[in-house]
Amino acid sequence: MKKFKMCIIFICICAMIFGLAGCVQRPDDDSEIPERTVLGFSQLGYESEWRTALSNDIRRAAARAGVQLMFDNARQQQFNQLRAIRSFILKGADVIAFTPIVEDGWDNILEEARMAGIPVIIVDRKIETENEELFTAFIGSDFHSQGVKAGEFMVERFAYVEGPIRVAEISGMPNSSPAIGRAAGLREALAEHPNFDIVISVSGDFMRSKGREVMETILREMPDIDILFAHNDDMALGAIEALEEHGIIPGEDIIIVSVDAQRSGLEALQQGKINCLIECSPHIGDKLMTLVFNIVNGEPFDRYTYTETRVFIHMDNEQDDET
Ligand code: AHR
Repeated sequence: MKKFKMCIIFICICAMIFGLAGCVQRPDDDSEIPERTVLGFSQLGYESEWRTALSNDIRRAAARAGVQLMFDNARQQQFNQLRAIRSFILKGADVIAFTPIVEDGWDNILEEARMAGIPVIIVDRKIETENEELFTAFIGSDFHSQGVKAGEFMVERFAYVEGPIRVAEISGMPNSSPAIGRAAGLREALAEHPNFDIVISVSGDFMRSKGREVMETILREMPDIDILFAHNDDMALGAIEALEEHGIIPGEDIIIVSVDAQRSGLEALQQGKINCLIECSPHIGDKLMTLVFNIVNGEPFDRYTYTETRVFIHMDNEQDDET
């Protein structure tokens, strides 16, 4: 009988231990809550309206999904991102996600995450790596196709113009995948149209203040341009400020094409100051959380997830609203 009692006690203890696996005790009461998935997320900075929208979207989605988010903002420095990712590894995050500020220089930290058995999701921007297996999944948009769509709009808009059609480009941060992809896409779309000439290309680091500064430089060095292609809305809006100060009418004297289609970009499109906006959606938080759960639970998932890229054109430019 004594043996039987001991056996029952042993079974109860086992049931408690195994029953509690995956649960934690609230510090202030007796009830149990399920252990939450921990996601370490390194955001590259806060250079643009788009970036803020992405951060907010991820915070909201994590809260909705019950994911415990460790959020770090790297303030535009790659070494801050590396430090944040290392700290997520040390804290034992279930999954790490980050928006790589530039394409290169990630292999060592990804190897560290791999050794620790932590899956890594690349968000928004792409990386250059010797070994594609070092990351688990990518979610973001197709920057190259955004550049192509910008070029296609220019070709249609100037269909009956002999040229030369002079294009100025305010590009994003050097060595970042959106700057590389959008520049390459634009050149690909214009390659068969020798009447287009990209006469100047200067980086504005995706920032409104720099867009304005760079536009001043362009007006000094190449005053006679027909089209401005800005790699994001913030830089386009900064450039518009500079143009207006010089008495140049944006959207009329100079055709303006930009990427993102965030609220202030769409307002400028409505006012006719921007002629064409190529969408780059920052609303990827929910998809990211689904990816996190699928990875953690060993469910199937797509290794590459791309967001939709729509094209918004101001009505005076004689095309459909969306393609
Ligand atoms: O990586 C996406 C780009 O980065 C967005 O187009 C831009 O606004 C942001 O800063």
